[in-house]
Amino acid sequence: MTIDFLSWSTALQTRTESALEQHLPNTTTAPQTLHQAMRYSVLGGGKRVRPLLAFAAGEACQADPARVEIVACAVELIHAYSLVHDDMPCMDDDVLRRGKPTCHVEFGEATALLVGDSLQSLAFELLATTTLSDTPTQQLAMIKLLAHASGSRGMAGGQAIDLASVGVALSLPELEFMHIHKTGALIRAAVLLGAYCGKPLSEEQFAKLDHYAKCVGLAFQVVDDILDAEAPTATLGKTAGKDAEQNKPTYVSLMGIAAAKTFAQELHRDALDALNGFDHSQRLRELADFIVQRSF
Ligand code: IPE
Ligand code: IPE
Ligand code: MG
Ligand code: MG
Ligand code: MG
Repeated sequence: MTIDFLSWSTALQTRTESALEQHLPNTTTAPQTLHQAMRYSVLGGGKRVRPLLAFAAGEACQADPARVEIVACAVELIHAYSLVHDDMPCMDDDVLRRGKPTCHVEFGEATALLVGDSLQSLAFELLATTTLSDTPTQQLAMIKLLAHASGSRGMAGGQAIDLASVGVALSLPELEFMHIHKTGALIRAAVLLGAYCGKPLSEEQFAKLDHYAKCVGLAFQVVDDILDAEAPTATLGKTAGKDAEQNKPTYVSLMGIAAAKTFAQELHRDALDALNGFDHSQRLRELADFIVQRSF
């Protein structure tokens, strides 16, 4: 990671944090506990990889950063909601997230459920109340894209498969299908929404960016599986070793650590190759590096 990338990403993480801070309801507004729990679950943690991908794609398409900021927040709100629900006892039953007690541990299960509901609604409210595109048709397409990526044919669908697959020996294509949905869909949406804030892409340029987004989306969850098996809880900020403990099919359980790492490298290469001939894609390339080389 270069110093230049580090200062770019730090500046945009700070920008995302303050935008989220501003868009989340205040804790003095009723219902106070729900708003407190929403802010607890979104602010002050996380790598903000999805917002960074949106900003990087926006840069590659000469987008107005003020527009990208909105889509970055919307995707991060959906992501934070997915984490709150993922940690609940009815799902992965986790007590630690982003280095803090999980939302349901701190505020109770009913509040955690409502935090997820409310963050999801807030994401779409943001997309619907700010001008993000020069044409209303394109803005509607953006809202639809995030809806599709979040729902039963995207993240929520992937989570359903994840839960139904405990103790099941999935085939490699089945595992890939699960990962593409539970994690890949939202990451792809972050990239494409950032791009849609900018200049229209040719069909060929869109295909390149889309292929990049799919590769990093899948790579992200492959690396998450590897880190769950290898990294310590203190570094991850979430309980390590949960996948094996809960008998979840992962790239590590299916192919072993070494082959999972090789697969992540292949996806990394594929993501970078897809960007050949795509101008202003340096930040996207650096993010692909980060996603595969990260230690948390
Ligand atoms: C964790 O996502 C859940 C997955 C989809 C793999 P992140 O690793 O992006 O979590 P934060 O946002 O940095 O906490
Ligand atoms: C979660 O996958 C994907 C989501 C949609 C939240 P994991 O269950 O592996 O995520 P972590 O490891 O708890 O962050
Ligand atoms: Mg899970
Ligand atoms: Mg989990
Ligand atoms: Mg995991």
